[in-house]
Amino acid sequence: MALNGYPPNVAFVDNFESLAAYEFGGEINAVCWIRELTGDFGEIERVLPPVEDITSIDREDLAALALRAAGRLARDTLTGDLESVSNQGLQPSLDLVPSGPGRRNPGPVRTDVADWHADSANAPTDTYLCTYTGASSQGIAPQDAVARPDDPPSRAQLLQFYGGNDDEGFRTFLSEQFYDLHYVEKANARIFEFKQAHLWKIATKYPGCPGPPCIHRAPTTSPAAPRRLLLIS
Ligand SMILES: [Fe+2]
Repeated sequence: MALNGYPPNVAFVDNFESLAAYEFGGEINAVCWIRELTGDFGEIERVLPPVEDITSIDREDLAALALRAAGRLARDTLTGDLESVSNQGLQPSLDLVPSGPGRRNPGPVRTDVADWHADSANAPTDTYLCTYTGASSQGIAPQDAVARPDDPPSRAQLLQFYGGNDDEGFRTFLSEQFYDLHYVEKANARIFEFKQAHLWKIATKYPGCPGPPCIHRAPTTSPAAPRRLLLIS
């Protein structure tokens, strides 16, 4: 299935089984289960307490929330999604993300989740992601982003921060500090929205991975925006 407005690295399916079974290869590194959800996810976000930083909501706390019927329906979906992803041998978490600019790591270039990045792992795995409330995560066509170490201005900044020569030690530094997992977007990049409700499986970078990982980022939100509630594994 294809959908207008998405770059060719994205494929679409219409059920969880197809999503889970989808094997990345060729140019596809993101697959999306397009779906419409019923229920009031906003009610869940509203009854959750204020949080200072990204906070994982545990299942007991979710189950204990006093909700109206539409909120309970949304909670059933959240619980079902967590279970479906857990059944893939993963440990998904339901995260509540406070609105606002978020935390930036120190260093010459950004290395936080709101910067273009790829997820990485030591063994084959995929990332599952669904945004239920607030602004959704975004992806970018792989051809439209350059890894930080391959972007001359970023590399010069990083080398200055490193304070040594552009040698093996510098390359180790880039990798150990995860700068090689962060990217700069090119002009006129094809950026796509994950949108609310759709459940995504995106490719990570691991030894022997079949293709380029899916480059993505968390949205930057204003302090007045609704908090984000998302499933992430
Ligand atoms: Fe990520």
